[in-house]
Amino acid sequence: MIRVTTVAGMKDLVRRWRGEGKRIGLVPTMGYLHEGHLSLVRRSKSRSDVTVVSIFVNPAQFGPREDLQKYPRDLERDAALLEKEGVDAVFCPTVGEMYPAGYKTYVQVTELEGRLCGKSRPGHFRGVATVVLKLFNIVEPALAFFGWKDAQQVIVLKRMAADLDLGVEIAACPLVREPDGLAMSSRNAYLSPEERKAAPVLFRSLAAAEKLVAAGERDAAKVVAGIRSAIEAEPLARVDYVEAVSLETLEPVAELAGEVLVALAVFVGTTRLIDNVRLRV
Ligand code: PAJ
Repeated sequence: MIRVTTVAGMKDLVRRWRGEGKRIGLVPTMGYLHEGHLSLVRRSKSRSDVTVVSIFVNPAQFGPREDLQKYPRDLERDAALLEKEGVDAVFCPTVGEMYPAGYKTYVQVTELEGRLCGKSRPGHFRGVATVVLKLFNIVEPALAFFGWKDAQQVIVLKRMAADLDLGVEIAACPLVREPDGLAMSSRNAYLSPEERKAAPVLFRSLAAAEKLVAAGERDAAKVVAGIRSAIEAEPLARVDYVEAVSLETLEPVAELAGEVLVALAVFVGTTRLIDNVRLRV
């Protein structure tokens, strides 16, 4: 596995691969890898000739009062995991390499970026879209792999790829969970043992909602209220938002019909966790 830290170095490697007619798969990450990330790597390996994993904790997508400084990092452990998966290259640039002095350009996916997590994290999706477009320009992938764990991110990036004629296929992959239902996340490392025990309430509330809809409930407000009260019954949890939205526009729906995303963000202690289910009603 080749480790690349500069944009020029990555571009050289990509030029060589493209000269050999190789189809490049890219898995963008912020590191501290878990099985969710590795599931994307395996998808990429099965669909691409060469797989590049980027590891970059992107300052542009963190708010001023968010966890940029304390975000968990362990490059050596990550590199060992990726080596074992047979990844071809890991791209791990410094902040200065991605955002050199004088950097001024940002991408905004209007409307979509302001919904759901965008309301509590203003500027977050501008930072995500910007870094992902930069990664696409550096790595020139045919395919890029993202998890449904971050459903709004998938929708925003699909829109960006279509709108800007990027010619990159955005491949969305299933959400990977712990045995007790908790969505895998690098941020789960922040949870105390008590908080970790409380955290599966997110998934349980969504699973109960899914059942309710399967039994015929079509009133979005009722489903959302059910999720809210299940979470509010857990003393360590505090709801940031619970919403039922159209999977396409991310606009709230009153009636559950078609493709619906039920998404939530919940603070467990001081850690903000997200989860979702997609329903085809
Ligand atoms: P990060 O949180 O490290 O996640 C990297 C990728 O792994 C994302 O596509 C995310 O949706 C996926 N992922 C995380 N947990 C998952 C799980 N439990 N199941 C399935 N997929 C999962 O998302 C980011 O980084 C950043 O915003 C990034 C796209 C790298 C831009 O900086």
